[in-house]
Amino acid sequence: MIEKFDTQTQEILFELEKTQKQFWNISRVTAEFLYTIIRTKNAKNVLEIGTSNGYSGIWLAKALKETGGHLTTIEFYDKRLDIAKENFKICKVDDIITPLQGSALMHLEYLPDYAKFDFVFIDANKSEYIKYFELLDKHIEIDGLIACDNVLSHEEKCRPYIEAVNSNPNYENVVLALPAGLSLAKKIRS
Ligand SMILES: C[S@@+](CC[C@H](N)C(=O)[O-])C[C@H]1O[C@@H](n2cnc3c(N)ncnc32)[C@H](O)[C@@H]1O
Repeated sequence: MIEKFDTQTQEILFELEKTQKQFWNISRVTAEFLYTIIRTKNAKNVLEIGTSNGYSGIWLAKALKETGGHLTTIEFYDKRLDIAKENFKICKVDDIITPLQGSALMHLEYLPDYAKFDFVFIDANKSEYIKYFELLDKHIEIDGLIACDNVLSHEEKCRPYIEAVNSNPNYENVVLALPAGLSLAKKIRS
């Protein structure tokens, strides 16, 4: 799937995969899954929590280039976000990305009521997934999806989120056996 991208993007993605552990990036197969699902769903307003050096963000944004959408991505550490911004530029996706530096909880608390997302990718502090969900719920459109990485690799920390989404009648959730475990919840009503 990576072969679809221009040479510079392929080179950056291959380079970033060499430091995957250091920057806690998602696996290639998880990235390919997110890339596919955003295009299949024709998602337009995507939020990512946990940018790191931009590896997953590049895949999300490449999908959004095809749907005509936009990515907002949040990262706590300014140095990591600076690297991500540089990578977004090289991959020519910086024009459709709003990078936000700081605490995800802080940014989510101050989201204006009109901010709506049809796809959210959560890959930050596992213990905070439940709080991200509580703050995000009113911003998720009907038929919108929330994907959370590491729900199997960090099962205990993610459990409060998994229990909350599984017991919420407004959501249907499935846990996919991708490398770290990816939860995919669809909002079916509000
Ligand atoms: C697993 S890494 C993200 C990897 C990235 N999604 C990728 O696959 O390329 C998690 C990132 O979330 C950031 N992070 C953790 N807690 C955060 C918080 N509360 N607010 C914002 N960013 C946070 C960390 O600094 C780290 O860079």
